[in-house]
Amino acid sequence: MNDKILTIFGGSGFIAFELVYKLSDHFKEIRVLSRNIEKCKQVKVIKNVDLYLYDPSNTSSFTRYLKDSHVVINTVGILNESRKVTFDDVHFNFVKTLVSKSRENNVAKFIHLSALNADVNGPSKYLQSKGKADDYISSNNDTKFKTVVFRPSIVFGECDSFFNRFNRLLKYIPIFPLACPKSLFSPVYVKDLSNFVVESVLTSQYDNQINNVTGPKNYTFLELIKFILKVTNTKRIIVPLNYTLSYLQAFVFTYLVPGNIFTLDNLKSLQRDNITSDGLKGNTTIEEAVPLYLSKKSNKLDTYRKKAGR
Ligand SMILES: NC(=O)c1ccc[n+]([C@@H]2O[C@H](COP(=O)([O-])OP(=O)(O)OC[C@H]3O[C@@H](n4cnc5c(N)ncnc54)[C@H](OP(=O)(O)O)[C@@H]3O)[C@@H](O)[C@H]2O)c1
Repeated sequence: MNDKILTIFGGSGFIAFELVYKLSDHFKEIRVLSRNIEKCKQVKVIKNVDLYLYDPSNTSSFTRYLKDSHVVINTVGILNESRKVTFDDVHFNFVKTLVSKSRENNVAKFIHLSALNADVNGPSKYLQSKGKADDYISSNNDTKFKTVVFRPSIVFGECDSFFNRFNRLLKYIPIFPLACPKSLFSPVYVKDLSNFVVESVLTSQYDNQINNVTGPKNYTFLELIKFILKVTNTKRIIVPLNYTLSYLQAFVFTYLVPGNIFTLDNLKSLQRDNITSDGLKGNTTIEEAVPLYLSKKSNKLDTYRKKAGR
């Protein structure tokens, strides 16, 4: 692939960073597309990486970068929609355009980051929009246009949103009400997930497949929160909420508190356990990797993330 071009969308994202690092040795050129290239400074230092500003709502702002691209990776995603930007806009309509323009430009492989439990009939708008996109992508593959979809459970790593976000929240909330404490997750390490993606880029092993990706162990939400407290040596009172109180909390956070901390749509997504027995499994446990970055030293990271606007 050393004479080929890779184009990746959602360049400032946590998973995109890891992929660009891992793939930079394998391509002549990597085009990183972002709505805010200031946030992509970390990858700018790599010799064969070029950053390009684009507007997802303006097709002509990105189609030229698809020209001569051999592989396109889409890592664009949101956890919450707003009045201005819906899940369908970001997860489905944008993907439809990207697939169609990629085909027009003879892209050989289209790789897409979806989410575990993505399903057109799923319980939340998030999962439905992800499922619609996965179905659309898969219905467009053929011998000339290969597609690969990855559906990870929660992904952890130094700049993850799950462990870092809950760590920050736990710092400021001494009595912590926890919605859906029994919901199950199978966290997968970002480097393990990226290894699968890299393999899908370099080989035909995953061509035209949809792959669930999980970690080596399952945990309840409550276990994950207790794990954060243990790693950071923090004492907090956790109050597990039943469904009615979880709903009430999500309602308040959706309509009365700004910041999308926990919305009704998030609550609906949690009605399906984020685990599976099939698909690809990473080896790295949270016990091995999370303490390396979620210790007392994490204050530094907080400052970095704040500066990066994440
Ligand atoms: N992290 C997880 O635990 C996890 C779990 C399951 C699935 N996933 C999926 O994996 C993909 C990558 O996740 P991630 O953790 O790397 O997410 P992330 O750090 O939030 O990155 C997603 C990127 O999407 C772009 N984006 C955000 N809002 C957008 C909008 N309104 N329009 C267009 N682009 C927008 C941003 O890139 P720019 O600002 O650079 O344009 C952002 O950096 C996502 O599709 C996510 O749903 C992640």
